[in-house]
Amino acid sequence: MNVMNVDYSTKIPNNVNLSEDRQVLKALEGWHPGYMDWWSDMGPEGFQQSLVYLRTAYSVDPRGWAKFDYVKMPDYRWGILLAPQEENRVIPFGENFGKPAWQEVPGEHRATLRRLIVIQGDTEPASVEQQRFLGKTAPSLYDLRNLFQVNVEEGRHLWAMVYLLQKYFGRDGREEADDLLRRRSGDADSPRMLGAFNEATPDWLSFFMFTYFTDRDGKMQLHSLAQSGFDPLSRTCRFMLTEEAHHMFVGETGISRVVQRTCEAMKAAGISDPEDIAKVRALGVIDLPTIQKKLNLHYSLSLDLFGSEVSTNAANAFNAGIKGRYKETAIEDDHRLQNSTYPVLKLIDGKVKRVDEPALTALNMRLRDDYTQDCAKGLLRWNKIIALAGYDIRLELPNVAFHRQIGEFKDINATPDGLLIDDATWNRRKGEWVPSADDGDFIASLMKPVTEAGEFASWISPPKVGIDNKPGDFEYVKIDT
Ligand SMILES: [Fe+2]
Ligand SMILES: [Fe+2]
Repeated sequence: MNVMNVDYSTKIPNNVNLSEDRQVLKALEGWHPGYMDWWSDMGPEGFQQSLVYLRTAYSVDPRGWAKFDYVKMPDYRWGILLAPQEENRVIPFGENFGKPAWQEVPGEHRATLRRLIVIQGDTEPASVEQQRFLGKTAPSLYDLRNLFQVNVEEGRHLWAMVYLLQKYFGRDGREEADDLLRRRSGDADSPRMLGAFNEATPDWLSFFMFTYFTDRDGKMQLHSLAQSGFDPLSRTCRFMLTEEAHHMFVGETGISRVVQRTCEAMKAAGISDPEDIAKVRALGVIDLPTIQKKLNLHYSLSLDLFGSEVSTNAANAFNAGIKGRYKETAIEDDHRLQNSTYPVLKLIDGKVKRVDEPALTALNMRLRDDYTQDCAKGLLRWNKIIALAGYDIRLELPNVAFHRQIGEFKDINATPDGLLIDDATWNRRKGEWVPSADDGDFIASLMKPVTEAGEFASWISPPKVGIDNKPGDFEYVKIDT
């Protein structure tokens, strides 16, 4: 079969020749009903019978891979799609640098690989669970459709990881696949594996922050796994990244549109001080200081996803050829890192300082630095909108020491500027830096659904262009059908 095109004749669309891989097909078909149960229990609340204008992958050709059409979400064709195999691909880093990439799991790396695949897999359904109530308060049909697009694709990413587990990890892989449907975001007994994926996503500003900051952590992880010497994992991640770009687009443009609307409303009302929160809120828009607080929260939660700055697990995974660096093949060095160092931010004598550590153990830190650079691009865009409106205030990424639960700074308190403070000061002032209950209540008060085609809630601007170039009044979701 041609790997570029996806076979839709089987129950599970795929480009991995499932119809001739009976055992794996059987395992996946056995897993399917549990997945559908999970989707109906934990997927988007309501709208399951609505027609949603969704894209579905029909190919893995980067020049044209998606088809748009109205689909009921439960009828979405969740499939197994791998990017085409690169001929003669070699392991691009670590002790096995230059050797042929593995088409099967090497015995000695089985446990590490399985753990990484399970952790990645666990985040995919988690985000669907976190976002499941947002449909009820969508600011427009355009946004509603984007939410559901993100949700069905995160579901597909779960399928992608489950395929790897079932095909390459035998019985324990099948058990892990079942457990991925058993854990629940925020559950006291059986939570999802990573902290940020157990947090609530209570409103649409959180959703945009999540897709901007937390999906971007996903992007960085997928990029490092796309370098993997285990070729099926590499190919899976490469195609997931194609879809993932849209999720971050939703976040970046979502925040842009919120900032835009706030600035427009302030200008129209003649407000000169953007920090006059009461006046700004009276206009039915979200004030910039509150947007900054949400940003502080989601950025710091997402930094925790990179793990400890110094990590022997990360070093081992790199040495083994399992998890590389961001854009590994574009980096000009020896790709082994045995003798190099990397500067790591550490807490020394009560101050945040840079210290050179062996580059191998500092790989989490490096990936986190790449992430921070990637995050900064959105801030440039948002700040441009604010500057163009004539306001002298900027959104900023908080210091890495701010509000951390994992790594070097987990036991201290710091302001967004990186000033270390004691517990009492933190407790007294944290409401200035992360959203307070009042902030949450205010945002919640704005979250009224808008379901008229082409209409938008008071607190967000319309997008510049439609999805699939559709006009502004396009009915992206036919709610009652
Ligand atoms: Fe994903
Ligand atoms: Fe995503």
